[in-house]
Amino acid sequence: MPKELNLGDILIEGKTKIVYNLPDSPERVLLHSKDRISAGDGARQHELVGKAAISTTTAAAVFKLLNDAGVRTHFIEKHSEKEFLAYKCEMIPIEWVTRRVATGSFLRRNPGVKEGYRFCPPKLETFFKDDANHDPQWSHEQLVSAGLKAAGITIGPDEVAIMGKMTMTVFEILERAWASLNCMLVDMKIEFGVTPDKGEIMVADIIDSDSWRLWPAGDRRLMKDKQVYRELKEVTAEGLETVKRNFEWVAERLKELNPKPSARVVVLMGSPSDTAHCEKIQATCHKFGVPCELRVTSAHKGTDETMEILASYEGEGIPTVFVAVAGRSNGLGPVLSGNATWPVINCPPVSADWGAEDIWSSLRLPSGLGCTTVISPEAAGIQAAQILALTDHVIWAKLRASKLNTWISLKTADKKVRNDK
Ligand SMILES: Nc1ncnc2c1ncn2[C@@H]1O[C@H](COP(=O)(O)OP(=O)(O)O)[C@@H](O)[C@H]1O
Ligand SMILES: [Mg+2]
Repeated sequence: MPKELNLGDILIEGKTKIVYNLPDSPERVLLHSKDRISAGDGARQHELVGKAAISTTTAAAVFKLLNDAGVRTHFIEKHSEKEFLAYKCEMIPIEWVTRRVATGSFLRRNPGVKEGYRFCPPKLETFFKDDANHDPQWSHEQLVSAGLKAAGITIGPDEVAIMGKMTMTVFEILERAWASLNCMLVDMKIEFGVTPDKGEIMVADIIDSDSWRLWPAGDRRLMKDKQVYRELKEVTAEGLETVKRNFEWVAERLKELNPKPSARVVVLMGSPSDTAHCEKIQATCHKFGVPCELRVTSAHKGTDETMEILASYEGEGIPTVFVAVAGRSNGLGPVLSGNATWPVINCPPVSADWGAEDIWSSLRLPSGLGCTTVISPEAAGIQAAQILALTDHVIWAKLRASKLNTWISLKTADKKVRNDK
């Protein structure tokens, strides 16, 4: 049962949603989905019983994935079958579109380009939200010149750059997530809002089957998105049922998108005196959602034990990256590397006196070994997460969002320095 909410007045009502104010928490709103499907800027509209619940389930799963990764979105939590709670925003009336593969309106606007042309990086396009004029495409120059305002901030070149980067990140994270389910995310659109209190830019509105083109196995004929509805020559009950079944299929698949971590890092230290160093590696792993265990074992003094530990982890079959932390002469990393097929990263705690000499025991290896060496514990954690992200889209999303957020911090700091002059 949903918690009782004191609903306020309607903030705004659109074609598919009603947004309610919440008098008890003015920084939040309730987004209520309608059982309504529309296309062609509202020219085609139908009642579709069950759509609101499917759309809410879809949006909740997608926003949760993005929030967990570290992308700033307005989504707080699902409230009921057809409703979710979000931060109240002043919306920026722009649709931000990203495309991996050329299809649809892009082909009409860019004659000569064949369907299937692959954009690397994804193609970013912006459209001004104006149903009456069929959402005209705006160039970057038009967008930065328009001087749009939301919640007291003017949308200038910095804000446009930030939203552009956020849009790309959202696309790439969802593209990977869908790829893990053997579906191709062909293109998608999102919208942004600004919070009135902090002036924070966040992904807002909805992300559901209306937001993207989704082709299972990369096959256009298997499409599972709203395009099916757009392409119905005549809208029959049967046609609408197909559309609904597709949307349900998408919502069901999304349940598989927040899996438990499929991999781990094991940090082996030669001596418990290196625990603080190892905990820094562990903290970085945790930041990217990677489980990380610490163990003590010396390859010099407890070789049998080191081999047993290795065998026990290998026996569990969970993909593992080992990080070897050993001061002075690093026997641990190279011995592990010589006996394991999983990756080994040396991260020696470099001492002030002999550090420059000690490091050679990690670098100059017998033939046949493939361990790598980094000095900073953070770098070891990041490297391990990157290796595991090759096959784990959840870890990949966290790494990707972390880069985005670093980029945004720098951009914001630069703007502040310029304005403080
Ligand atoms: N977090 C939010 N705060 C305030 N308004 C929002 C938020 N998220 C979405 N909205 C607005 O809710 C309105 C209703 O959505 P919708 O029915 O899709 O409208 P439309 O028909 O204009 O697309 C839109 O105007 C959208 O900008
Ligand atoms: Mg809308």
